[in-house]
Amino acid sequence: MTEMNPKQYVAHAINQVGRVPGISPGMKGREIRKVGVIGAGLMGSGIAVCFLGAGIPTVLLDQNEEALNKGRKSVAAALNSMVKRGFLFEGLAKGLQILLSTTVDYQDLSDCDLIIEAAFERMDVKEDIFKRLGAVAKKGAVLATNTSGLDVDHIASVSGRPADVIGLHFFSPAFVMPLLEIVRGKATSPEVLRTCLFVSTIIRKTGVVVGNCYGFAANRMLEGYARESEFLILEGANPEDIDKAFTNYGFPMGPCTMGDMAGLDVRCHYLEAMKADKLIPDDPRYGVLTRALAGEGRLGQKTSAGNYDYGADGRTPIPSDKAKSLRDRVAAELGVAQRSFSEEEIVMRCLLPVINEAAKVVGEGIVNQPSDVDVIWTYGYGFPGARGGPVYQARLMGLEKVRSALLAYQKADPQFGQTYWAPAPKLEQLFA
Ligand SMILES: NC(=O)c1ccc[n+]([C@@H]2O[C@H](COP(=O)([O-])OP(=O)(O)OC[C@H]3O[C@@H](n4cnc5c(N)ncnc54)[C@H](O)[C@@H]3O)[C@@H](O)[C@H]2O)c1
Repeated sequence: MTEMNPKQYVAHAINQVGRVPGISPGMKGREIRKVGVIGAGLMGSGIAVCFLGAGIPTVLLDQNEEALNKGRKSVAAALNSMVKRGFLFEGLAKGLQILLSTTVDYQDLSDCDLIIEAAFERMDVKEDIFKRLGAVAKKGAVLATNTSGLDVDHIASVSGRPADVIGLHFFSPAFVMPLLEIVRGKATSPEVLRTCLFVSTIIRKTGVVVGNCYGFAANRMLEGYARESEFLILEGANPEDIDKAFTNYGFPMGPCTMGDMAGLDVRCHYLEAMKADKLIPDDPRYGVLTRALAGEGRLGQKTSAGNYDYGADGRTPIPSDKAKSLRDRVAAELGVAQRSFSEEEIVMRCLLPVINEAAKVVGEGIVNQPSDVDVIWTYGYGFPGARGGPVYQARLMGLEKVRSALLAYQKADPQFGQTYWAPAPKLEQLFA
């Protein structure tokens, strides 16, 4: 694979994403003429924009008029930003808004062909919604959840029609990011999966089919990257050092800016959920800084303070003395020694866990082929196209170099090294 240059390789990888077991090119899907979106928040309004942009009438449902008003404003703002960036004419943007209707009544979803849930990331909320959908959705409607990582099979089971249920995981901002992770549940029918592959092309996204597991493929691989970037801060690297290492590598932004954009409160919820499911060990360093920052109301861009401070525009990160003194205090409490890091060390430390987790999702069949990992990173997280992706980079390094680097990090952390760094059981599959 590395005989192709990175750009040729990414183009080839995109051609491969349609290779999905059980789905043949001639297979028909269901017709999607009207879409319902549940939850008019950040993701729901962005998802609505995707369908409006494709000229598809869309109904946005939320719990009350206040939430719907916010959603309508977000949709208008997103369409305006598309006009400003030259993707839409002004007149067309106004016309597309006419295709949007809003409601608090589930009955108004009864004529939708596809309904996407983007409500709070809580299983009880999702259960309630899918029970209702099982009762009101028309026969043959595709029922999707935009959950970031909850169990799609469980959500499907409460609907009473699991064959119609699938995960459609959009990335934020939904109307900008080109990746759509399509989560195939164990009962999802091939016809529903085929329909969602069509849907991804209609809304001009690259759809990658993945299996159901905690965090699916994308967020699961992102976790080690986020963990090590937080550990690096604790050990003395500043957020701006880490982000600079990644922008110099070619990413549009580094993990600390990305964390502030997504919201440190969102990460706190995610960490809580992982802890409850015993997916993270009892390591006092894990997420400690994120929780400390969030505990002081530093939730990221939304509060103009997080890993960074933010000026009047609320978007430009400014290195923060407050965040650094918080880090110094937490590191001292935990007895974590501090030092400086080279850019190469920073990048390697955060990307090696991605490569190792990639080997796990490949080995477990969560992705259909190793190159899907690179499509996910390029289109979901802005991995530089000129570098091909984590799998491409791993192959450039070679199996033995990757394995020995993982083992060196494992040895350096006697207590948790085995959990974080032990080479994936089928690491070699990434190099086949
Ligand atoms: N924020 C991200 O970056 C991101 C990325 C991918 C996926 N997601 C997932 O998308 C979903 C929504 O996240 P968000 O960031 O848009 O949250 P949000 O808080 O911005 O919006 C959630 C919306 O859902 C509404 N809601 C809650 N319960 C409801 C119910 N029972 N019926 C109808 N509406 C209800 C709320 O009023 C709110 O408007 C979550 O499952 C999240 O994990 C989020």
